[in-house]
Amino acid sequence: MKEKACFSPWILLALVSLATCQDLQPFITEPRLTAVIPVNSTALTVVWTFANASIDRSDYIEIYVIFYEYYYGYNQTYASTNYTFINRANNITSLTRNFGLVNAYYYVCFSSNSTVKNTTIFLAILNRCVLTRTCLRSNRGCPGPVSALVISTSITSTSFQIAFLWPRELPFTPNSFFVQLIDNGQSATALSSTQNSTHTTYSYQFLGLQSRTTYTVNASFVYTLMFASPMTNVTILTVMTSQAGKFRCSKYFSWVIFFFQINRSR
Ligand SMILES: *[C@@H]1O[C@H](CO)[C@@H](O)[C@H](O)[C@H]1NC(C)=O
Ligand SMILES: *[C@@H]1O[C@H](CO)[C@@H](O)[C@H](O)[C@H]1NC(C)=O
Ligand SMILES: *[C@@H]1O[C@H](CO)[C@@H](O)[C@H](O)[C@H]1NC(C)=O
Ligand SMILES: *[C@@H]1O[C@H](CO)[C@@H](O)[C@H](O)[C@H]1NC(C)=O
Repeated sequence: MKEKACFSPWILLALVSLATCQDLQPFITEPRLTAVIPVNSTALTVVWTFANASIDRSDYIEIYVIFYEYYYGYNQTYASTNYTFINRANNITSLTRNFGLVNAYYYVCFSSNSTVKNTTIFLAILNRCVLTRTCLRSNRGCPGPVSALVISTSITSTSFQIAFLWPRELPFTPNSFFVQLIDNGQSATALSSTQNSTHTTYSYQFLGLQSRTTYTVNASFVYTLMFASPMTNVTILTVMTSQAGKFRCSKYFSWVIFFFQINRSR
């Protein structure tokens, strides 16, 4: 009975009207950025694909590629490389660009505007971007952008810190941090950030903890890459506080010795 319901004429009608709708209105879809490939220590290749012509009815497509270059605080924007495509046969689908810097960061942004000639129909897609990096100076590898590191440090029997090690070579900075114990919701106190030649360190401290206890910490940060919407990076860390210190231990010992001496003196 249920199987019969699947072939309901209403569903067939819906499918037919959907198909008609597509035939009446030219359907436009956009070319897509497929990869940004580091070629060597100074060059990148940007690769894109056009939408299949069996779906895409656009007959006038503009593509814009912009490179934003970064190197430890230095930055430069290169003029957009523009293409106009009228006929997609034998079209260009990649761009290789050589730069003056070695092993630098690039934010590569791809935009397009697909239109149907003699109509007002268009589909503009702006700033599909990728963060990348040219290969090592030695050309032995192309490891890509470095990442921020989240670690636990300064562990005592009642406290510890969570540190976010932010590489200064990254062309963006964190917007905000969130550091909380998952077990009881206790939040951490921000300490002032410190900086050396390679990293900026943002530290957060938990106080008043139990000794030899394992805590689970949610250590998150939010960052924004130029045109992208803010993104959240979540790290879950487990941290074990140390044994109740030598301080109490030595107190205990001195008390024992003291007791022993009283006994003797009697
Ligand atoms: C890197 O590749 C580009 C593009 O092929 C080329 O123009 C450039 O000379 C190369 N650079 C090095 C350092 O090999
Ligand atoms: C485009 O779509 C047609 C029909 O669906 C298909 O035969 C063809 O292989 C597709 N071409 C590409 C490059 O995907
Ligand atoms: C895309 O092309 C249409 C038609 O030429 C134009 O009206 C529109 O402003 C263009 N949009 C962008 C973002 O360039
Ligand atoms: C900078 O500080 C970070 C975090 O403490 C450390 O990992 C890194 O090695 C330091 N860099 C230098 C050059 O001292």
